[in-house]
Amino acid sequence: MKNQFDYLVVGSGIAGLTFALKAAKSGSVAIVTKKDKLETNTNYAQGGIACVLGQDDSFDLHVRDTLESGDGLCHPDVVDLVVKTGPERVRELVELGVAFNLSTGDSSFDLGREGGHSRNRILHAQDMTGKAVEKVLVAAAEADPNIAIFENHLVLDLLIQHQSMKTGAVALYQEDTCRGAYVFDITGGRIHTFEANVVLLCTGGAGKAYLYTSNPDVATGDGLAIAYRAGAKLANLEFVQFHPTCLYHPAAKNFLISEAVRGEGARLIDKRGRAFMENYHPLKDLAFRDIVARAIDTEMKNSGDDCVFLDITHRDAEFLTKRFPNIYRRCLALGIDITKDPIPVVPAAHYMCGGILTNASGRSSIENLYAIGECACTGLHGANRLASNSLLEAMVFSHAAAVECAERLDSWRNRILAAVPDCPAKIGAENSSNSEMVMIAHNWDFIRRLMWNYVGIVRTDKRLALALTHIRQIKMELKEHMPKIPLSSDLVELQDLALVAELIIRCALHRKESRGLHFNVDHPAKGGEDWLKDTVVKKSAAEEFLTLPGV
Ligand code: SIN
Repeated sequence: MKNQFDYLVVGSGIAGLTFALKAAKSGSVAIVTKKDKLETNTNYAQGGIACVLGQDDSFDLHVRDTLESGDGLCHPDVVDLVVKTGPERVRELVELGVAFNLSTGDSSFDLGREGGHSRNRILHAQDMTGKAVEKVLVAAAEADPNIAIFENHLVLDLLIQHQSMKTGAVALYQEDTCRGAYVFDITGGRIHTFEANVVLLCTGGAGKAYLYTSNPDVATGDGLAIAYRAGAKLANLEFVQFHPTCLYHPAAKNFLISEAVRGEGARLIDKRGRAFMENYHPLKDLAFRDIVARAIDTEMKNSGDDCVFLDITHRDAEFLTKRFPNIYRRCLALGIDITKDPIPVVPAAHYMCGGILTNASGRSSIENLYAIGECACTGLHGANRLASNSLLEAMVFSHAAAVECAERLDSWRNRILAAVPDCPAKIGAENSSNSEMVMIAHNWDFIRRLMWNYVGIVRTDKRLALALTHIRQIKMELKEHMPKIPLSSDLVELQDLALVAELIIRCALHRKESRGLHFNVDHPAKGGEDWLKDTVVKKSAAEEFLTLPGV
C-alpha cells in the first residue's frame, strides 16, 4: 500500500503534534506513532515549561542560565530565539486549552523553580504538565480533518533520493532528498510506503539504552538511528543527561521525582540524614543537573549505599498533596508517604542533549528532512540541558519548521520526481523462525547494562573502548541473525538501540575532556578552545548496515 501526504510526522509528542496542527493549515499530514498516540515522553513530563513570565524575570536571565548550564556549547543565537519567542508559543498552548496552574489569589501563572534557574519560571499543571499538554494537543489533532493519525506504525527507514540519481543525463536532485519512509504496521504485520514532501522526525530520546531510565519504553532512539542510516549528520550524543532523582523501589519502573520537588525546598540527604549538596556547589540542591547527578553518584560510591533520599517532610502536607498529587499517590502506593518519609532516589538516564543536527528552522542536513524535540540537536542545550527547556524548544522549533515548510510546499509539490520504489510487503526471510528470539531479549538487556556500567555518569577511556568492542560484537551478531528472525518491533528497536549506543560511545570517546554531562576521569578538566564545538558524526561511505528482513 502506498500513502501520499504533504507532511509525514513521526511521533506524537509535543513536537510532532504542534508541528502537525500548524502544518495542517497548508497541507495534508500523516502522524505515525509506534504505539498508542498518548504513549510519548511528553506525556510523562512532570516539571513543566520554562518561560519568562514572572515580574522579576527577564530574557537576559533565562539566556544566561541556559548558557551557563550548557557549559560553553550552546549556540547563543538559538538560545536567544527559544527564550524570546517562547512566551508567544506558550500563549498558543493556553489558547488551545492547556490549563497551567495559577497563583492563589490572582490570575498570574504559578511559576515553579528547578535546578540552575535563577528565577521562578516553570509553568506547570501540578506535577503532570506533559499529560495536560498532550491531552489538549491530541484532541486538537484528532479534530483536524487534514491530519490522519496512524497508531502502532513504526518507521523502519527513510526513503532517500540520492544526489547522484539521474534521468538520462540530468541530475534530478542537487542534494540527497527525503521522499518519505517505509513504515511497519505492527498490528497488520505489513510494511507500507509513505510518500511525503517533508518528513519530520519527532521520535524523542534513547533513555532505553540505559538500564535505569526515567523514560517510557518507547524511548529507543529510532529517529536517531534512521536519520544516521539515511546519511544525516548527528551531534553531541556524548551528552546524555541523567536525572538526579528517580524513585528507587523494586516495584517502581521509570518513575521520576520531579526536580520541582527540590524547587519547593526538598533536600538531598544520605541514609544517616546528612545533607550533602553543600559540599558540591553553592546552589546546593538546586545546582545544575549534571552536578547534582554526579554528586549523588559520588555519595553512593563512597558509602556503598544503594540510593540517597529526598526529604520534603518539612513542608505542609496539604500543600504537598495539592502540588504533587501524582508523586504523592505513586509513592504512597509503594508505602512511602512523602509528607512523612524521605523518598529513596537514584539518578537515571533522562534526556539526550544531542541528536540530529538541525538549523534554526529544524531542518536536518538532508533536504526535506526535519527533526524536532529530543531527537534533534538544535544548539539550545549545549553540554547540559537546563531543566524544563525542552518542551519550550519543541514548540519554538515546530513553529519555525511549519512556517518554513508552508513557504516551500508549493515548490516541492511542483517538482518532477522519479517514482518511489515500492517496499516489498513480505515480512521475514524465507526461512525465518522464532528459535533465535532469545537473542533479542538477551541483547536488549546486555546493551542496557553495558551502557549503564561503562558509558554512564562517570566514564573512563578504558571502559568506553571496551563498550565499543562489545557493542560492535552485538551489531555483528544482529547482522548475522536478523534475517532469520521474523520482523517485530522489538527486533527493529534493538537494531536502532544498538546503533544509537554505538554512536553515543563514539562521541564520548572522541571528546577528550570533561564538560557538562560528559565526565571522563582520564580527562577530568575542561579542554581549551578546540573543544568548544559540537561532536558531529555521519555515516561514512564504507559503513555497512544491518538489513531488515524483507526490506
Ligand atoms: C522534572 O520534572 O524534574 C523534569 C524536568 C525536565 O527534565 O526538564
